[in-house]
Amino acid sequence: MEDVFSLITMIVLLLLAFHGFGKCSNVYSRNDFPEGFAFGAGISAYQWEGAVDEDGRKPSVWDTFLHSRKKDNGDIACDGYHKYKEDVQLMAETGLHAFRFSISWSRLISNGRGSINPKGLQFYKNFIQELVKHGIEPHVTLHHYDHPQYLEDDYGGWTNHQIIKDFTAYADVCFREFGNHVKFWTTINEANIFTIGGYNDGNSPPGRCSFPGRNCTLGNSSTETYIVGHNLLLAHASVSRLYKQKYKDIQGGSVGFSLFAMNFTPSTNSKDDEIATKRANDFYLGWMLEPLIYGDYPDVMKRTIGSRLPVFSKEESEQVKGSSDFIGVIHYLTALVTNIDINPSLSGIPDFNSDMGESINILSMRSVVSPWAMEGILEYIKQSYGNPPVYILENGKTMNQDLELQQKDTPRIEYLDAYIGAVLKAVRNGSDTRGYFVWSFMDLYELLNGYKSSFGLYSVNFSDPHRKRSPKLSAHWYSGFLKGKPTFLGSQGITQLHSNFSSSR
Ligand code: BGC
Repeated sequence: MEDVFSLITMIVLLLLAFHGFGKCSNVYSRNDFPEGFAFGAGISAYQWEGAVDEDGRKPSVWDTFLHSRKKDNGDIACDGYHKYKEDVQLMAETGLHAFRFSISWSRLISNGRGSINPKGLQFYKNFIQELVKHGIEPHVTLHHYDHPQYLEDDYGGWTNHQIIKDFTAYADVCFREFGNHVKFWTTINEANIFTIGGYNDGNSPPGRCSFPGRNCTLGNSSTETYIVGHNLLLAHASVSRLYKQKYKDIQGGSVGFSLFAMNFTPSTNSKDDEIATKRANDFYLGWMLEPLIYGDYPDVMKRTIGSRLPVFSKEESEQVKGSSDFIGVIHYLTALVTNIDINPSLSGIPDFNSDMGESINILSMRSVVSPWAMEGILEYIKQSYGNPPVYILENGKTMNQDLELQQKDTPRIEYLDAYIGAVLKAVRNGSDTRGYFVWSFMDLYELLNGYKSSFGLYSVNFSDPHRKRSPKLSAHWYSGFLKGKPTFLGSQGITQLHSNFSSSR
């Protein structure tokens, strides 16, 4: 039956190709990507592991943020801590080449510095071992919104320069203990949005800001956003230097930094909107990418923010410049930018949004499928930043968390089909993009929406104490794609939904 379906699919595709469907260019398969291009999916520690107070793990700022605001939380999440073997089995059946996950700093080193938690260490060794045993390449992120609460209480976490030393020591443990199997390290997950959400807007951990009515007990949106951004860059550079000095020759891996990359498009073709769009790109992406590639902040930020923007010493600038072997791109959103003369600060003091000054109308990731935006980002990075190696560490589609609806997630397939096709176009245009990870491998605790919406290829029944996983249509589709079945370039239709792998368990 499978074979007959595949044969029919092939014939239909060939017929379409011969009838002028872009002379075959609309049909693509995994084999059209360069050899070695990694295809995977991802999760993060807090969103997947659960077991938050087991085996010596201590709270991270994410635990505290949710508990103090009485929100849904990741106390159990997908229970990945206990179900990792089952999950690796699913990854292998899906045909993933690579898997992206993060290490919980406060599981590995409970207080963030000092002694290693042996059970935490064992968990990550087992998990990595299991991935490797199944031929899946681990891509590890060291910080995904979850630095240890202990360090937050002790000295203010990322607002304090002291964290650079502790973060470097934590990375040293990871390289030493896991580096024989792990070749791809990302220091910080979407550093720009972590900073804006956690220190400017206060709507993500650790929830610091100076906006009235946002439940922030501490913070200063005017200054902390830039201080934290600065410390993240210096911490990344310090870790990258450590890797080069101590591990790279033996382990042969690479260390990258990841950024949330929105596509900004001028809302009209006026000169003002074009300039405003450039400014939005400089604030969101250039803020951290420019130091990593060229050693300093964009001029427009230095001019606007003045003394609130920390300054790199000559030595720091040299350390940060060239410290990222690859750029991890996280892409979901596209936004229209309109110039406005003044963007008043909601808190009465200047902050990131008022400094940036534009009116930005974000087109939600729920409703808009705009693969051209992905292509645009990759082209922009290629042209503006010297075409660095890129891994797309997250891209995917959110839908309401409704088990029934989730199983038949055709819109997600259309989305992935279109976006992976866009990546292929960018690669064909010369972008040095080397990998693509669907967010997320399974439904999990979502950063902004808890369990109300989800991105997973697999659903998780969160009402079931066993957290039963089931493949959605998108899991079948992705699996088929990874196993070489052709699909269309662009969202022209879904050509393959069946694949050889076991269903619901
Ligand atoms: C974050 C993930 C999150 C996803 C979807 C990304 O910005 O890295 O943790 O779940 O967005 O909201």
